[in-house]
Amino acid sequence: MTNPPSRCHFLDLKDLPSSLLRHILDAAKLWKEARRGLPKGAVDTGAPLEGYALAMIFEKSSTRTRISFEMAMQQLGGSSVVLQGDTMQLGRGETVADTAKVISRYVDAIMIRANSHAAVLDLAANSDVPVINALTDRSHPCQLMADMLTIEDHLGPVTGRKIAWLGDGNNVATSLIEAAVRFDFELVLACPENYLPAADVLAWAQAEGGHVTVTADVHKAVANADAVITDTWVSMGDKDTEARIKALAPYQVNDALMARAKPEAIFLHCLPAHRGEEVTNSVMDGVQSVVWDEAENRLHAQKAVLAWCLGKI
Ligand code: CP
Ligand code: NVA
Repeated sequence: MTNPPSRCHFLDLKDLPSSLLRHILDAAKLWKEARRGLPKGAVDTGAPLEGYALAMIFEKSSTRTRISFEMAMQQLGGSSVVLQGDTMQLGRGETVADTAKVISRYVDAIMIRANSHAAVLDLAANSDVPVINALTDRSHPCQLMADMLTIEDHLGPVTGRKIAWLGDGNNVATSLIEAAVRFDFELVLACPENYLPAADVLAWAQAEGGHVTVTADVHKAVANADAVITDTWVSMGDKDTEARIKALAPYQVNDALMARAKPEAIFLHCLPAHRGEEVTNSVMDGVQSVVWDEAENRLHAQKAVLAWCLGKI
């Protein structure tokens, strides 16, 4: 086995060409189908990552990301080590750069969920092995690969579709904007003025020729949409909880809003959901909701991301 080049980091969708992201998504689809019916802990045919080890660093809470990456490595025939940021020497002042150099000597890839996006870039710049962004204050690219897989599982090709985002212009919204450009779909984000998507991300999308617009009008956003997506109004690390809940209340996804999208439109949420805030129970549990498929697809999408990072696809 040879070590893959360290340039195979998976840090943000904007860093990677459309053709590569499509290649990863197609591999995820094939592998998902190929293991249908197997027990969840069974190793895939050919054990594509046999002998490979992944370190997973968490500076923030996680349910889906932790389990899906750990099971991804198991299904691919590899292994994983889970590290909590606050129990590492990183939390006592060891630099990110030194930490990257050390961890690279033990494992073949690093997945990190970090408070600061800058720290992830620092880690990647100093790591000899691929680094995967598993959520930062800036972005959540792994989530969007799972979302693309989910939309295509239910609706077919995402290219040319209209997708509506309702609520906070947060880290998931940033990756959704980057996905809109890379996968070439129309994206309308309805956000209140104090919680708009990052200006540099919108400028990037415009410069790339993306079909991305922002409005305060929720009805305009969901009109004729193929998919409606939201996320929590208060992300990990956000402090202004009360102000957010007040400003974002008009952006709740409820039955009346879903009725304005296409009749066959689907509802996505990266989870965890705050039922009664950004989404009602009736939408979460309704026939248009695909949130459990979306959660499952974290596993399938990340297996393909890992395989690409390690030079296997
Ligand atoms: N969607 C997502 O990343 O979930 P977790 O925070 O549970 O990992
Ligand atoms: N925007 C949310 C996503 C959680 C998966 C957060 O950052 O907390």
